Amino acid sequence: MAKRGALDLASGLGGKLSKQQVDSAAQQYVNYHELYGGEEESRKSNYAELANKYYDLVTSFYEYGWGDSFHLAGRWHGETLRESIKRHQHFMALQLGLKEGMKVLDVGCGIGGPLVEIARFSSTSITGLNNNDYQISRGQEFILSAGLSEKCNFLKGDFMDMPISDNSFDAAYSLQATCHAPNALGVYSEVYRVLKPGQYFALDEWCLTDQFDSNNARHRTIKAEIELGDGLPDIRTTRQCIQAMKDAGFEVVCAKDLASDFPCPWYQPMDPTHISWSSFQCTRIGHFITRTIVNTLEFLRIAPAGSMKVYNFLQTASEGLLKGGREGIFTANFFILGRKPALETGTTIGNL
Ligand SMILES: C[S@@+](CC[C@H](N)C(=O)[O-])C[C@H]1O[C@@H](n2cnc3c(N)ncnc32)[C@H](O)[C@@H]1O
Repeated sequence: MAKRGALDLASGLGGKLSKQQVDSAAQQYVNYHELYGGEEESRKSNYAELANKYYDLVTSFYEYGWGDSFHLAGRWHGETLRESIKRHQHFMALQLGLKEGMKVLDVGCGIGGPLVEIARFSSTSITGLNNNDYQISRGQEFILSAGLSEKCNFLKGDFMDMPISDNSFDAAYSLQATCHAPNALGVYSEVYRVLKPGQYFALDEWCLTDQFDSNNARHRTIKAEIELGDGLPDIRTTRQCIQAMKDAGFEVVCAKDLASDFPCPWYQPMDPTHISWSSFQCTRIGHFITRTIVNTLEFLRIAPAGSMKVYNFLQTASEGLLKGGREGIFTANFFILGRKPALETGTTIGNL
């Protein structure tokens, strides 16, 4: 279960960092980014540190504001935020054709919200791969309380170099996590390697659309805001991701921006003028309350120094995502389904 109280927010802030390290870690984190004079090459070569610092700093904010699943989803009218997120997880399970007994990999699994929901929905065993120790410790508490620790587990590791043998899994999925990779081909090739032949990989990517114009200064600023607010080394285009799936060896079965399928777009929760009881923290009043709580807790030294810095770059994330989504230059829901080709007759996995 996600920790959603204000004191949980303060106590979890910094993850595995000591409370004294939060302020300097937040400063080092922002310095990686264009808006603070940082460079893409340095973000790419330090991608693991960039993502790990980011998630140490923000995980308790995510749990407070978002719950136990850290991804976005389009919504139908009348659906709560939580319902839309679960429905999206069920959609992934159905696209993969998950069935009882299958061994599934969740690439970049967060604290395990999707893993728990998909394991229950499909009666599968899921391994969550994550490079962040704090999130893994939260995830372990979560699967224990969900009664799933016999069937599901977490594995600490980098998805660019997975500590997993070849041909191990019956299916793999990734929900808005591979955007942290310094290049898409690296992570997709690793998923390809650990999947059994003939099996499927479904993912939701964060991408620039064909409307993004790299010569447009406003577009470039929105991209930089999303990178800063979300721990990203760079953002790839939809075309680059499809090509990387093919280059990794996958047959691309489906590639589609799901954003246009829904009357309420994935970026609606980022719109502070939108009134919603199910995502109250995201409304203008909700922002005001959270800001006041964080400011007060930092002033009283209940939350560590640097907490407001983290709050501020998360605000930049919301603003960048809202502008990117509204202007159609960015999508958080680019869905790709790929299949690792089956073995030719007469070949066995041992002599691949
Ligand atoms: C936006 S969160 C999504 C988490 C999860 N899929 C969900 O929807 O709740 C991105 C996740 O990717 C993980 N991640 C980032 N870089 C990683 C890497 N190099 N290897 C493994 N996991 C990574 C982060 O720690 C985080 O858990």
